[in-house]
Amino acid sequence: MTIHDLVQGARDRFVTAGISAGLAALDAEVLARQVLGWDRARFLTDRNERATSVFLLNYEPLVARRERREPVSYILGTREFWGLPFEVGPDVLIPRHETELIIEEALALTAKDACPVIVDVGTGSGCIAIVLAREIPGARVIATDLSRHALEVARRNAVRHGVAHRIRFVETSFLDGIDETVDIVVSNPPYVPSVSQPGLIPEVRDYEPPVAVFAGEDGLDALHSVLIGAAAKLAPGGWLVMEFGCGQDDCVVSLVEGVEGLDVVKVRHDLQDIPRTVICRKSQAPTQES
Ligand SMILES: C[S@@+](CC[C@H](N)C(=O)[O-])C[C@H]1O[C@@H](n2cnc3c(N)ncnc32)[C@H](O)[C@@H]1O
Repeated sequence: MTIHDLVQGARDRFVTAGISAGLAALDAEVLARQVLGWDRARFLTDRNERATSVFLLNYEPLVARRERREPVSYILGTREFWGLPFEVGPDVLIPRHETELIIEEALALTAKDACPVIVDVGTGSGCIAIVLAREIPGARVIATDLSRHALEVARRNAVRHGVAHRIRFVETSFLDGIDETVDIVVSNPPYVPSVSQPGLIPEVRDYEPPVAVFAGEDGLDALHSVLIGAAAKLAPGGWLVMEFGCGQDDCVVSLVEGVEGLDVVKVRHDLQDIPRTVICRKSQAPTQES
């Protein structure tokens, strides 16, 4: 039996488990290449080689995990974000491509030579905090999370990417206990309504940490808490860049309108044209005359 035969067999099992045909083929190949240590070009050239028993022994457990709908990123233990590899595991959300919008917007707000204080609320794997620390060399970053285990993963990622000395990791709720004025708050908080849990795909429902996914019945609880925390801690003229869920844009704009001192400046859409990221500004300090 060739490697190709075994990869086809894995693909068929994934399809039977409910994974779409395109993704099933991709996942079967990615897992095989992980075991073989081959890049895509070598895989395409040599996949008709006879499969060794060592390959079979190492491939089968990965296939069985994916067949149970465990995300490939957890099986591999890594996920790419902003072109960098991040350690991921069951304690952290798998970084999503659309979250890179937060990075784009935060960078657009910051001069290359600026030295802002940035807080990443709900840092998870640390992907946002770490990328911003790398991209803004003068920045000092504070990364908060309720989950001690997530913070351990984030710390390891910060060491891996050479910015651990510039990020303070704080185990707290939202911005509680952050006792300095900050220039930029960034956040991808949990925002999935708890009532939609049964309808989620198994990869999210059964594997990603609930604390990273759900935020009350309507999904707005954490978004609201981040807004309140940001209004309290931002310097006058400071910025909040925050992700929210599909269909929550009107609710988020209303929430911002209800928080004194914050105004919506822009709502960014993602590549699927879904409103995804809100950019808010803290009011300037009142002038002497006003
Ligand atoms: C959607 S995940 C985002 C993780 C990461 N920032 C990313 O974009 O991939 C939300 C994160 O918020 C954390 N979280 C949930 N409730 C929190 C709270 N009250 N205070 C701080 N962090 C919280 C979760 O542990 C999780 O790591």
